[in-house]
Amino acid sequence: MKILVIGGGGREHAIIWALKKSKRVDKVYCCPGNAGIAAMADCVDIEVDNVKALIDFVKYEWIDCTIVGPEVPLCAGIVDTFEKEGLKIFGPNHKAAQLECSKAFSKDFMRRHGIPTADYKVFSSSILAEEYVRIKGTPIVVKADGLAAGKGVVVAGTSDEAVSAIRLIMNDRAFGAAGDRVVIEDCIEGEEASFMAFTDGKTIIPMVSSQDHKRVFDNDTGPNTGGMGAYSPAPVITPDMEKVVMEKVMKPVVHYLAKEGIIYKGILYAGLMIKDGKPYVLEFNCRLGDPETQAVLMRLETELIDIIFGVIEGNLDKVKVEWSNRHSVTVVLASGGYPGKFEKDKPITGLDKIMPLKDVVVFHAGTGYKDNSIVTAGGRVCAVSALGRNVKDALDKAYSAIKLIHFDNMHYRKDIAHRAVTLKPE
Ligand code: GLY
Repeated sequence: MKILVIGGGGREHAIIWALKKSKRVDKVYCCPGNAGIAAMADCVDIEVDNVKALIDFVKYEWIDCTIVGPEVPLCAGIVDTFEKEGLKIFGPNHKAAQLECSKAFSKDFMRRHGIPTADYKVFSSSILAEEYVRIKGTPIVVKADGLAAGKGVVVAGTSDEAVSAIRLIMNDRAFGAAGDRVVIEDCIEGEEASFMAFTDGKTIIPMVSSQDHKRVFDNDTGPNTGGMGAYSPAPVITPDMEKVVMEKVMKPVVHYLAKEGIIYKGILYAGLMIKDGKPYVLEFNCRLGDPETQAVLMRLETELIDIIFGVIEGNLDKVKVEWSNRHSVTVVLASGGYPGKFEKDKPITGLDKIMPLKDVVVFHAGTGYKDNSIVTAGGRVCAVSALGRNVKDALDKAYSAIKLIHFDNMHYRKDIAHRAVTLKPE
């Protein structure tokens, strides 16, 4: 079987690593991929939103199935276009992807159906939005309605910060049309967790829980990033909490979307805040989290391709999804300066020394080739993932491996999984 994976980050590298465990998968292509992916798949330089070129490529190569990694092509309706052409593709269609693509759609949907989330208002006038935050007080959350590459959410501690965020989004158009509207939302403080599930629109199979680390520096300080690391399981998602999330969030979402005529197929990811023993949805994503996927797929024992086809064919109920009960961690190695300005083209050494290590894998993100060497090509360069009998064991393996890798100005957090270590001393 020939598979195409769309994307070029750590998430897509982890997906391809998991796919390649199956004998049914003969060949994997990736558009556009990265230097690490190139070692296990044919990378083809087609951008993730060039749907026409992707379709031509899939037809030309007789590819059996396409898996979409990032949200941008999903929000642009790539699934609908592929399906019209009779091509198999994994991911939610345009309407279903609105759960991530429009914060206002997502919040209104949750309100209509009693799915627990913070109180909010949607504004298409910056003047009215500013007036509202001044009356409402702080802390308060300002969100661009549309996709903003993870930069469209500001947790404002003062009214001035909230007003600046509104102006940046709506008046300065920092994220283009994504800022036509803003959602202003009450701030719920608690512990965050990522809850991802596979669904074919009828059956919902939760993945093992995970938590990511969004701030760039230790002790959750510094600016937000795409994610500096992750670990699984997240102790805050107890077995009882998993049941509550399934009953109060995941099942109602799929059920009520279907009632509104939208069949959700693919990955449903709820970004949760757990407060006083109750889950609140901060946001939905219509794809796998990055870097949570790297930690979660390390623990997947079932062949990923079987789950993918279970979703596409609508018989996910026939697939038994099994997970290792070991713990996993993922530590992102970033370019110095990220998430601000950073330099590229720094040679990366030591990657070959990781290969023989048991239970340790490096998933590449922003890497490329220059003069036949692997060099940095992005903010998040790569991530070291490790499996262990407990979280400390996994952390020891990951951090020992990191000592073998080097590039100029390499930066990483030293406190990944600190909540799991503090909560559950081993
Ligand atoms: N790690 C957060 C996300 O993938 O959106």
